Amino acid sequence: SRIKEVEFVKSSSRARDCPKDERPEFAILGRSNVGKSSLINVLVRKKEVARTSKKPGKTQLINHFLVNKGWYIVDLPGYGFAKAPETARMDWSSFTKGYFMNRNTLVGVLLLIDASVPPQKIDLDCANWLGRNNIPMTFVFTKCDKMKVSKGKMPHENIRDFQQLIGQNYGKHPAWIMTSSVTGLGRDELLLHMSQLRNY
Ligand code: GTP
Ligand code: MG
Repeated sequence: SRIKEVEFVKSSSRARDCPKDERPEFAILGRSNVGKSSLINVLVRKKEVARTSKKPGKTQLINHFLVNKGWYIVDLPGYGFAKAPETARMDWSSFTKGYFMNRNTLVGVLLLIDASVPPQKIDLDCANWLGRNNIPMTFVFTKCDKMKVSKGKMPHENIRDFQQLIGQNYGKHPAWIMTSSVTGLGRDELLLHMSQLRNY
């Protein structure tokens, strides 16, 4: 599961503009500012392969990164940017849903969930949408290094609450991993998990 090489391939504004080869790919999905681009940089051990920002909404396109010339990591725009008008949010969902419904090389979605805040309805809705559409997903909890409690809860408590809310909808629970882009927690576990999914 070692990453020897990573190259940015292209940004696409529509599913039909994405690379057309048959290489397997993983999509990184989650709320704006959850840490998608940061996680990609940690996975590939390069500082600014994927552009990060304190301001939500940094990633606006479907960005393909080719790893070891064999498989793709895809950075998607974040959803649920609170300040975006409702119409922009609707655009997000039709745009991203188009990608999911048309991408048959998709091995799985890494759904990133901020462990430093209590469960958010939009994340639960997203997990449920993926589940209903039989799109395989892994829950990747981000910002697990944050020890400042939000509403009196620590990351592991927020994770437990999220799992309980999801459990009401799923017989079989998606795999889940705790990560931090600051400490590197979960990096090796996630890479191993992805290599197992690719060879499945
Ligand atoms: P969009 O592209 O806007 O959707 O955001 P994104 O999900 O790509 O988030 P990004 O990686 O740009 O990170 C957003 C902010 O969260 C930045 O200020 C990061 O430094 C911070 N951040 C990301 N991951 C972590 C983490 O694991 N721990 C902590 N403490 N901060 C993080
Ligand atoms: Mg981003």
